[in-house]
Amino acid sequence: MIPRWLAVIVLVPFVSLGESSTNPAIVRAMSAVAAVAPRAQADPARPIYHVTAPAQWINDPNGPIFHKGYYHLFYQHYPFSDAGGPKYWGHVRSRDLVKWEHLPIALWPSTEKGESEIWSGCATINGNGQPMIFYTSIAQGKNAGDHAEQWAALGDDDLITWQKHPANPILTEQLHGGVKVNDWRDPFIFHHEGRTFMVLGGNLNAGKGGEAVVNIYEAENAALTQWKYRGILFHHPDKEAASAECPNFFQIGKQWVLFVSPYGKVQYFVGDFNAKTCRFEPKTRGEVDHAGTFYAPNTLLQSDGKRIVWGWIMGFPNGHGWNGCLSLPRVLSLSKEGKLLQKPAPQLTKLRGERLSWKTRRLDNRSETLTLPKTNTWELSAEIDLNTAKGFRLNFKSAAKDSPPITVSFDGSQFEAVGVKAPFTGKKLHLRIFLDHSVMEVFVNDEVCITRIVPVMDANATLEVSAIGGEAQFKHLEMWPMKTIW
Ligand code: FRU
Repeated sequence: MIPRWLAVIVLVPFVSLGESSTNPAIVRAMSAVAAVAPRAQADPARPIYHVTAPAQWINDPNGPIFHKGYYHLFYQHYPFSDAGGPKYWGHVRSRDLVKWEHLPIALWPSTEKGESEIWSGCATINGNGQPMIFYTSIAQGKNAGDHAEQWAALGDDDLITWQKHPANPILTEQLHGGVKVNDWRDPFIFHHEGRTFMVLGGNLNAGKGGEAVVNIYEAENAALTQWKYRGILFHHPDKEAASAECPNFFQIGKQWVLFVSPYGKVQYFVGDFNAKTCRFEPKTRGEVDHAGTFYAPNTLLQSDGKRIVWGWIMGFPNGHGWNGCLSLPRVLSLSKEGKLLQKPAPQLTKLRGERLSWKTRRLDNRSETLTLPKTNTWELSAEIDLNTAKGFRLNFKSAAKDSPPITVSFDGSQFEAVGVKAPFTGKKLHLRIFLDHSVMEVFVNDEVCITRIVPVMDANATLEVSAIGGEAQFKHLEMWPMKTIW
């Protein structure tokens, strides 16, 4: 079947696509993606229930927004290769966070205006009811680290076609007076007490590799074309933190949460925001995901008041016609102690096929072997009571001889998934593991998240379960083959 977004190119006369239908650059870009799509989609490593581009390179999730009955997600995209290049914005939408459709590329570099790349940003509806995207514009011949501008685009009411804003550039470095902000990028907008703010990441000392900061700006008009610099919202406490890419700043209950991507594992800070002084005082901190495989997350506030996050899953090999996908949507909350909790979005249970379950088992050092769904796309949910055991081990194994197992384990103080460790204590664990061909996302009691890229297992793969150092009870060990989101 021809995908909808491709049909859209073919059916141009019937669908209003504005510039995207006629702009030769964009027709070329989308044809380049379409040409590689069959090869990319035939790759057994390519995920089917994580958001990806139809083919080619993707990185950060951008501009998540719910509008007129659809969740829209954009993403950093290079349509001409699976190894990266100058960025465009790809686009998908969903009514329910379960089934998604690809839409035409939303933004591309306006080379005629001297633009070479469209970097990460956000989407919002301005005070005049106009859909707006804000993003970091990289100019031709300029180094992104020391020269960037924040541009906007205006969308049609379905958020499908976008035109660069006549007022561009909207924010320039001149706002900072004489202070040089390096790696100044990734606008994120939030509203508070009737005011509209933007945060942007950067650093004050790229030369020495540090002094990461998040700057804050306040809108001065409803059209969101005039902004005032309100100073440094957050100075990273680790002097060596190289930068603070993709800041997201939002409230959960009374607390304020800041996400930053510091060229390493994504960090969160929880604390207080003083809207008068525009300063954030963090009290607790942690890692959003314990693996650097999850990066540059972006969040969306749902109408029910819950905030969800997607991250970029990176680290795939090149040469297969695709590279990168977005994480599953995760619902955020905070523990009483100010720890970030993340739950896979409840809607994902709609992707489950027929349930496979094993009766309650008491296990010791002897392992038991279970058969995995042949789809190689599944969710596992297990409740484990450690009783006298110190820990447990799950070994996922291809049937082919000599293929090393994919291991998820707990030793009493460290949880480990495919080589990445996270501190954890407790005798009762609720484990949810999502496998999507070569992508694995592991959630432990909603407290620990580990995202990994794993070798593709064969159709006769098994799961070996064992307790370590005593006896453990495995309750509700259930699995479901997972269906595609497309
Ligand atoms: C994060 C990032 C952003 C930037 C984008 C460019 O992965 O470096 O800071 O806007 O990617 O693709």
